[in-house]
Amino acid sequence: MDHLREKYLTAIADAADEAALEALRVQAVGKKGDVSARMRELGKMTAEERQVAGPKLNALKDEINSALAARKAALGDAALDERLKGEWLDVTLPSRAHQVGTIHPVSQVTEEVSAIFADMGFAVAEGPQIESDWYNFDALNIPDHHPARGEMDTFYMAREEGDNRPPHVLRTHTSPVQIRSMMDQGAPIRIIAPGRVYRADYDQTHTPMFHQVEGLAIDRDISMANLKWVLEQFFTAFFGTEVKTRFRASHFPFTEPSAEVDIQCSWEGGTVKVGEGDDWLEVLGSGMVHPHVLRSAGIDPDEWQGFAFGIGIDRLAMLKYGIPDLRAFFDSDLRWLRHYGFSALEVPTLHGGV
Ligand code: PHE
Repeated sequence: MDHLREKYLTAIADAADEAALEALRVQAVGKKGDVSARMRELGKMTAEERQVAGPKLNALKDEINSALAARKAALGDAALDERLKGEWLDVTLPSRAHQVGTIHPVSQVTEEVSAIFADMGFAVAEGPQIESDWYNFDALNIPDHHPARGEMDTFYMAREEGDNRPPHVLRTHTSPVQIRSMMDQGAPIRIIAPGRVYRADYDQTHTPMFHQVEGLAIDRDISMANLKWVLEQFFTAFFGTEVKTRFRASHFPFTEPSAEVDIQCSWEGGTVKVGEGDDWLEVLGSGMVHPHVLRSAGIDPDEWQGFAFGIGIDRLAMLKYGIPDLRAFFDSDLRWLRHYGFSALEVPTLHGGV
C-alpha cells in the first residue's frame, strides 16, 4: 500500500494536464483500478486482517482523490494565469479618437430664445421659406409698388412666360408667419416664429440668408408698454445681465407706432462686446400691429390689438458669443464650427442658465 501511495501521489503531482490526471484517476481509483483490485482482496482475508487493511485502503482512496482534486485545481489556476497573460489589456492606453459634431451658434441661440419666450407663454409657429408675395407683402400692408418692396432686396422665384400663378419670393422676413398664424388660430394669440429669411445683401453684418424670430401677441388690451416689458425681460434673460438698449421711433408698414431696438456694443480689438463702448447694433424691429394687417388675417381691429417684433437671431449670437463676422457663420469651416460650436450635451434651460 505504501508503494501504491508513493507511486500515485508522485504521478499526480507531476501530471502535466487534465487528460493525464484523468488517466491516473482511472488507473488508481477507477472500477478496475489498483485500489479497487486491493479492495476486492479484502474478502479473502481473515476478520482481523480485514480490520487493519480495510480502513487503510479507504484512507488511501481518500488521499488519492484529494490529491487528484488539488492537482486539478492547481492546473486550472495555471491555465487561467496563462490565459490572462495572453489576453493582457492595457487600460491606461489613450482611447481611440472619435469625431463629435457641435451645435451651430444659430441653433443654440434659437433654442435659448425659444426657451425664454416659452417661459413667457409664447408658442412656436412656423411658415414656408418660399412665400407668395401676398403673405410676404400685401397682407402686411405693403401693396404693390410700395417703396418697402424695393428696399428689401427681395429674391423673386423665376417664372416661365405665361405662368399666371401669384409671384413667389424667398421670404424677406418672418412676418408672413404672423398672417398665417392669425388666419389659423384667430385671437387671442401669442406666438414666436424662428426661421430663415433671405435678402440680397452681403457685408460684415449682412448675409443673403439669415435668421429671424418673429413675435406676436394679440389680445384685447395689449399695449406698447407690454412690448417694452417683454423685450427688456427677454434681453436680461438672454444676456444674463441688464444690457443698455436704445428704442428708436421708426417706421414699418405693418406696425403703427413702430420702434427699432439697438444694443450697446464695442467692436474694439476685432471682437464684438455687448454692454460696453459707444457703438450700437440694431437687433430688432417692433411695434403695434397695424389694423390693416389684423383685417387681412381676419381679425377685427376694433376688438383686438397687440404687438409684433422681429429679432435678428444671428446678430444676437454675434453679440452674446463675441463673434465678429457674420459671413463666417455660413462658410462651413470646421475650425470655426469647432471653435464657436456648442456641445450637444449642454442643452440650454432656464433653470440651468441659458
Ligand atoms: N419684419 C421686420 C424686418 O424684417 C421686423 C419687424 C417685425 C418689425 C415685426 C415690426 C414688427 O425688418
